[in-house]
Amino acid sequence: MRVLMLGAPGSGKGTHGARVAARHGVPHVSTGELLREQIAAGSELGRIAQPYMERGDLVPDHLILSMVVDRLMNPVPAAGYVLDGFPRTLPQAKAAYEVALAAGLTLDAVVCLEIGHDELIRRLSRRGRVDDTTETIVHRIDVYEAQTLPLLDYYDGRGILHRIDALGAVDEVTARVLNALDRVAAERA
Ligand code: AP5
Repeated sequence: MRVLMLGAPGSGKGTHGARVAARHGVPHVSTGELLREQIAAGSELGRIAQPYMERGDLVPDHLILSMVVDRLMNPVPAAGYVLDGFPRTLPQAKAAYEVALAAGLTLDAVVCLEIGHDELIRRLSRRGRVDDTTETIVHRIDVYEAQTLPLLDYYDGRGILHRIDALGAVDEVTARVLNALDRVAAERA
């Protein structure tokens, strides 16, 4: 199973992405987590990415692309994965599609977690990561709407978009996601 988790900051991409990956026995690859690991390791990528992340801006596409390609294609292409937080721009999506197509590993499904702003702000304010100040959360939501929302039409056009209501108890939302993916698997079988 090759799945993308899309959604605004705080919509639950990480929470449900990890559960989907465990259920399907594939790696859960979060670009936010990969970047935070780079910052913790003091790498050059981490040093470049850190100010973008602290502001709630997107890290430049070329840096993200090489990080993701390296994670998913080396030493051998990953046959299955749950990608969380990537792609976030149309150029990222189009470049990823070309790489996946060449490897014969295009996506099975894109899950978009849908939820209102008030709940996003409530969840993230409670969590308290370094980029979870109210001002930065609001900016991250604006960035999501300007740069990532256009991806929904792109994936809808490819017939692989599944919109999921992300409001409710964690277990309920996970069940909605898993049910949608079970339907994809059944159609494919
Ligand atoms: P990233 O780490 O991806 O952050 P994000 O998109 O802002 O998403 P979050 O991790 O805040 O939320 P989430 O949707 O995963 O929700 P979660 O499950 O944690 O990216 C951080 C930064 O890295 C970006 O701003 C950018 O700078 C950079 N970056 C990353 N990818 C990039 C890319 N591709 N291109 C360029 N830049 C990139 O849940 C949130 C909270 O809510 C948790 O506390 C959770 O326990 C709780 N929660 C979840 N579900 C529920 C529920 N149903 N009910 C109640 N609480 C819930």
